[in-house]
Amino acid sequence: MPPITDLQTITLGPNGPTVPALGVGTWAWGDSLFWDYGKAYGDSDLQAAFEAALDAGLTLFDTAEIYGFGQSERLLGRFMQQRPQQTGSQAVIATKYFPLPWRFSQQSVVEALTASLDRLQVASVALYQVHWPLDFLLSQKDLMAALAAEVQRGRIGAVGVSNYSATQMRAAHRYLADQGVPLAVNQVQYSLLHRQIETNGVMATARELGIAILAYSPLAQGLLTGKYTPTADLKPTGARWLNPRFSQSGLTKLMPVIEALKTIGEKNDRTPAQVALNWLVGQGNVMPIPGAKTARQAAQNAGALGWALSPEDQAQLAELTQDYS
Ligand SMILES: NC(=O)c1ccc[n+]([C@@H]2O[C@H](COP(=O)([O-])OP(=O)(O)OC[C@H]3O[C@@H](n4cnc5c(N)ncnc54)[C@H](OP(=O)(O)O)[C@@H]3O)[C@@H](O)[C@H]2O)c1
Repeated sequence: MPPITDLQTITLGPNGPTVPALGVGTWAWGDSLFWDYGKAYGDSDLQAAFEAALDAGLTLFDTAEIYGFGQSERLLGRFMQQRPQQTGSQAVIATKYFPLPWRFSQQSVVEALTASLDRLQVASVALYQVHWPLDFLLSQKDLMAALAAEVQRGRIGAVGVSNYSATQMRAAHRYLADQGVPLAVNQVQYSLLHRQIETNGVMATARELGIAILAYSPLAQGLLTGKYTPTADLKPTGARWLNPRFSQSGLTKLMPVIEALKTIGEKNDRTPAQVALNWLVGQGNVMPIPGAKTARQAAQNAGALGWALSPEDQAQLAELTQDYS
């Protein structure tokens, strides 16, 4: 597939970089707790995915210090080092801080960020997100102040949060604004099969405050690709078998959605995954970050950009999935 030209884009904070409105999720890169890293796929597959994404014009890679206990960041660092500088686009990194109970001082943020930057082998990251809205001894106010200080210091381009409710997001936005720093993103679960943010206030508040939504698990962990069906021999790797949506009855219930994705995809010369991702981009202010384990998946996901579903097809998919929450 040729590199994307007509890109939908998202700007990470008012002064941040503008990136294509589709990123690459790297939770599975180095993770063998939930995913099957080292068995179903390995480093060479992931490096090929990294290269294919960049070659197709996707630049934002979403990682976290906890993914593979640092291995996702290490792999990204290595892949960035090994990509020749003159080779087209370069990676823009979004990583995450985990508010562990024993991280009780602002110095914890400084140290966690230093460790992430070391693993990534970079001096700064474009986006640093708080992974979960957990409050132990370090209050949200002090946490946001520590993050704002890192923006001033130049080690973070923009601040984000993840899994924050509308109320929590509004508070984080206010604490950061007190320090003169905008809240750039809230990363939450959002796909055709997880549409809570449309009704729980997160989407509306994000729009009101100018915060972009990073949609995680946008393919519902592979379900929306259409490759898992009640009759297919293909079984999901890793811990996904625990998810009832991957069970025989879950997959049977899903078939009308897959059929619609296929039919709409055929009309547009796109795959079901591309249709499902394009639907998210079409909501506006939303950047899906599908996980890719191979070059093929990364390149295919990039094909979700550069075109748009018709309003009728958008509406049909919304109606078909309204019972999913
Ligand atoms: N902030 C948070 O709390 C949080 C939580 C979860 C995820 N995330 C982020 O969101 C990212 C994406 O979420 P996710 O990995 O849970 O789910 P996802 O993006 O919905 O699904 C990813 C999986 O779908 C399959 N897939 C992807 N593209 C495909 C294609 N074109 N064709 C066929 N199969 C394809 C692959 O698995 P198989 O090939 O094995 O089927 C891949 O691992 C993560 O990597 C992470 O960066 C954040």
